[in-house]
Amino acid sequence: MKSRHAFRWGRFSGGGARGTVGVCLILSASELFPRSGETPPRQPPAAAAPVTPDLGSVPRPVTSRAIENLYRLGEGLYSGGEPRGEAAFAELAALGVKTLVSVDGAAPDVETARRFGLRYVHLPLGYQGYPEAACLRLARAVIELPGPVFVHCHHGKHRGPAAAAIMAITRWGWTPDQAERWLQTAGTSTNYAGLYATVRRWRPPAPETMARVPGDFPEVARTPDLVQAMVDVDRAWEHLQAIAAAGYRPPSDQPDLVPAREAERLAERLAEARRFPEVAGAGADLTERFLRAEREARELARLLRGEPLPATEVLSRQFQVIGRSCTDCHRAFRDRAVR
Ligand code: HEC
Repeated sequence: MKSRHAFRWGRFSGGGARGTVGVCLILSASELFPRSGETPPRQPPAAAAPVTPDLGSVPRPVTSRAIENLYRLGEGLYSGGEPRGEAAFAELAALGVKTLVSVDGAAPDVETARRFGLRYVHLPLGYQGYPEAACLRLARAVIELPGPVFVHCHHGKHRGPAAAAIMAITRWGWTPDQAERWLQTAGTSTNYAGLYATVRRWRPPAPETMARVPGDFPEVARTPDLVQAMVDVDRAWEHLQAIAAAGYRPPSDQPDLVPAREAERLAERLAEARRFPEVAGAGADLTERFLRAEREARELARLLRGEPLPATEVLSRQFQVIGRSCTDCHRAFRDRAVR
């Protein structure tokens, strides 16, 4: 049996309501630097390791054939996109990586990782900035788990680099400017103001704080239904992108993809998402947007079933309409910083 734990941080705040979580907070100065005259804690708790300044910890791209946006942040810490297929895991193993930390919503490929001697840890995170509890888990992971550590999200541009920054700050005492420069290097979009705020605020935790952080690291975490639906929506969308690039026909490297079926699948998953209680509870605007996106996907499916196939401009107009629905809804409900 796989170990499955339920936790997920950085949930969307629907309908303009306030989010349920705060962003990583600066620890009070007294936690970091005990005032003179006060006795410092005698015993450093097991989970804590002192910050070891690594002046050489400058992020550098690593050439890779199998992993998007692969970077080495410093000794023993890498960031990048999701490893897919054996070649990707083989590359990580060749770099000496021992632990993979996924902050993506999709369940990681634990089996392939194991075959390459790699251990997975799944700490799924959202786009709105990371709550303190999540940052503490990342901090404890990088201090405690066998390194080198590779942290990834889906494409290695936004959530993964932010998580890697939390680790670099914890490990090497990176300044807020260093952390922000790294996000810029990784290509983290400034639409994710919460991710930038998180890395600017995070400071290495005091040993006694770190000692209270749970030390169980699940291989696969349970994610909310909406996240699972979105992971599937995203898969169908990636297939449709490949289909679009192939002139709205099955791509030559994925001949089994049936264009209309992928669009139908997208519509089905969007329809399902609309019915989740968390979506219904977030207000009419979110439900309405899901309904609209679903109809747009059904329309694309209808066009793709056409014989003969409609003109490329017609298909690509519909394709773009759907793409805009994804981005607009994310901007309104997924990406805003939670304060
Ligand atoms: C009507 C709103 C809406 C539409 C339309 C929508 N999404 Fe989402 N999406 C969300 C929300 C809300 C979340 C955040 C869920 C959470 O973290 O709880 C999300 C999360 C995601 C995620 C992150 C999953 C993870 O790893 O955590 C991906 C990827 C995604 N959406 C892809 C897409 C794509 C691709 C489309 C269009 C084809 C799309 N979405 C359309 C609302 C929407």
